[in-house]
Amino acid sequence: MNSIEYRNWVNEKVNIGNEMLYLSFQDCQDTGVTIDEIIDYTERAMIAYSKKEVEMPAKIGLHPQPNSLMHAMPAYLSKEFACGIKWGSNFPTNKERFSDITPTNCQIIYNDHESGLPLAIMDATWITEVRTPAVSLVAAKHMANLNATTFGMYGCGIQGKAHIKMIEKILPKLENIYIYDIYESSMDKVIEICQPLVNAKIIKTSDPSEIAKKCEVMCSAVPIHHKPNPFVEGSLIGKGQTVITCDCHSVYTDDLYKKADIYTVDSIEQHKLLEGYGYYPWGLPEIYAETGGVAGGLKKGRTSKEQLILSNNVGMAVEDMMVARRIFDKALEKGLGIKLPLWKNTKSIR
Ligand SMILES: NC(=O)c1ccc[n+]([C@@H]2O[C@H](COP(=O)([O-])OP(=O)(O)OC[C@H]3O[C@@H](n4cnc5c(N)ncnc54)[C@H](O)[C@@H]3O)[C@@H](O)[C@H]2O)c1
Repeated sequence: MNSIEYRNWVNEKVNIGNEMLYLSFQDCQDTGVTIDEIIDYTERAMIAYSKKEVEMPAKIGLHPQPNSLMHAMPAYLSKEFACGIKWGSNFPTNKERFSDITPTNCQIIYNDHESGLPLAIMDATWITEVRTPAVSLVAAKHMANLNATTFGMYGCGIQGKAHIKMIEKILPKLENIYIYDIYESSMDKVIEICQPLVNAKIIKTSDPSEIAKKCEVMCSAVPIHHKPNPFVEGSLIGKGQTVITCDCHSVYTDDLYKKADIYTVDSIEQHKLLEGYGYYPWGLPEIYAETGGVAGGLKKGRTSKEQLILSNNVGMAVEDMMVARRIFDKALEKGLGIKLPLWKNTKSIR
């Protein structure tokens, strides 16, 4: 289908310019887009970004509460006819301040790339929940020892759970998954929810150093503080280990980044912007490549079992928009969501 044929197909289901679709968290899940598809689309988006096939300015943000963030994330993938913006937030104290409200909440305005008109407003909390571990999995696929038997997870919130649920897709030989969180109840919850879904044994740790010492591959998703306060000594981690973060430099001391054989980031431009905001008070480490560049073969990933590799990915709008296109299409096919009227229906305005 070319761009106009695709637009006509969409227009048969949503009358572009007169209405748009609203898709809730549940609608997005009900589309049936699978985790394998999410991993595949995410990897394609990362590669397209690093091959400069997309338009994606670095995200800009607001910080209304201490250590909170709200990011505006636009992206256009011409080959996918996918275009829109995610408005994503993380307010780490939401749970304490407002019961039952999760810290991470996101919406996407999804647009028709031919006319700019809105096609949908969709909840993007689920998209964010699954495409973020997908990025870590893509990093692991190209840079970790795929025979690893030990995996560690710092942070047992939404992302911690999602990473653990998905990690065996890439590391199928895992025997032990070590977890650490400042709240024991969060670790218990991970075991309750995730243990029935994975083969490896999930083991709680009370000392964050244990993961660094024991795990071949480790991921982290703890709150990002404007001034990082690392709690794991880089000296504990060395040759052969793979460290993947979705929380900037929140967990490990800076020496780890400086001694790594390979350090990748999802978007060099975005990380330079974050450095300007003060997120890397010790300076950005030397960047070997973009993670999508490694996935796309522009640069080699792991070439020896001995390499210490770090991959730091803060999330990109291209990943959201690539997945949003699939969710939107499937929602149209299945008749999901609620149609909302647009201004053209209001004759008095025209
Ligand atoms: N890279 C990306 O694309 C991306 C996407 C979504 C979220 N994130 C980031 O991932 C992080 C986690 O997001 P989430 O939605 O899972 O939040 P969450 O609040 O659900 O989970 C965070 C967990 O970290 C725990 N924690 C807090 N301080 C800790 C510490 N010092 N050591 C260990 N655990 C600690 C909390 O108790 C909580 O269980 C945030 O920083 C968020 O901004 C990144």
